[in-house]
Amino acid sequence: MTSLLHHAIPYVLLLAIINSHTHIRAVSSVLGLGADLLCSRVPGITPSQRRICSRAPDAIVAISEGARKGIAECQSQFRNRRWNCSLQASAGSVFGYVVLLGSREAAFTYALLSAGVAYSVTASCARGNISTCGCDDRKRGRYSASGWKWGGCSADIKYGIKFARKFVDAREVEGDARALMNLHNNKAGRRAVKKNLRTECKCHGVSGSCTMKTCWKTLPAFSSIGRHLVKKYNSARAVVACKMHKKSSLYLALQKKKNRRPRPSHLVYLEKSPNYCDFNPATGSLGTVSRQCNRSSAGPDGCDLMCCGRGYNTHQYTHKWKCNCRFHWCCYVECNTCQEETEGYTCK
Ligand SMILES: *[C@@H]1O[C@H](CO)[C@@H](O)[C@H](O)[C@H]1NC(C)=O
Ligand SMILES: *[C@@H]1O[C@H](CO)[C@@H](O)[C@H](O)[C@H]1NC(C)=O
Ligand SMILES: *[C@@H]1O[C@H](CO)[C@@H](O)[C@H](O)[C@H]1NC(C)=O
Repeated sequence: MTSLLHHAIPYVLLLAIINSHTHIRAVSSVLGLGADLLCSRVPGITPSQRRICSRAPDAIVAISEGARKGIAECQSQFRNRRWNCSLQASAGSVFGYVVLLGSREAAFTYALLSAGVAYSVTASCARGNISTCGCDDRKRGRYSASGWKWGGCSADIKYGIKFARKFVDAREVEGDARALMNLHNNKAGRRAVKKNLRTECKCHGVSGSCTMKTCWKTLPAFSSIGRHLVKKYNSARAVVACKMHKKSSLYLALQKKKNRRPRPSHLVYLEKSPNYCDFNPATGSLGTVSRQCNRSSAGPDGCDLMCCGRGYNTHQYTHKWKCNCRFHWCCYVECNTCQEETEGYTCK
């Protein structure tokens, strides 16, 4: 149970961090609790999430792993950009955590986290780590059009998606524009997992002759889902919330064509992104002061773009290592010391 607690806390923290629209809940109080109290006491999770938590504690482990996978992938995809998916603000911000506006970056973060949860739950099911699910046997034993047979352990993406939807979407109860945005992006993230499933096959027959082939659906590396969602981030659509005819509820429409709804696969955002140059906790911008940059790159990691025209500091490093080693009979090794001067650059 201690490992359960260990796994569950980061996700609870994450939910409290990234799902809070207007303020960050004080979550540090969770840290002292015993595992049995976890589901009943954690702030920042809704009653329905609490029920899921106590009914399926083994799935909570997968959920927190998925959330961590999502965050790690986000930080890896954006490490060379001004906004680098850092959710932990440095000293000086009020809550210690970054608040995300309804921006393109929030859209990406939500989609990737939701994808991470669907992915990890599906993977855990296939490994047999969750008692209420396993492999997807719906097609098992059937033949494909090209003659091979469904076999092995197909990833039960349907279960993973359903579980992730229940848990992750449970937070978005406000029914306001931001909740609609989050729900849309959560769903787009889960779809991305399904879209990137692969078919893997194994040949049977005399010495690998492949007279018989069985195939199954399998999850790709999570990074391919990350790359897929970066493309969706680049083509994300601005949306506005509109009122349903004669009803109080809202729906999202494209900002440019108000009679059109965004496609389910698109990421959507409500607010323009800040340029992330300066520190402003209110917009989720940490600024780029002292970020590393690359003097010879014309890309987003180049010093011009990364430092927003403020210029950069140059740092000299001396790298020393042993080289030209010779073995003398008997028995010692003689080496020279080689050295190289390198430079590093950080934004002013
Ligand atoms: C998943 O199951 C394997 C064995 O089936 C076990 O070694 C592993 O620790 C489990 N992982 C989690 C996160 O429960
Ligand atoms: C991301 O940016 C923040 C703010 O500029 C910085 O403190 C942090 O070290 C960066 N993270 C990485 C992994 O570069
Ligand atoms: C800096 O950018 C150049 C040009 O894109 C690239 O060739 C080089 O490897 C980069 N250097 C580092 C340290 O990333």
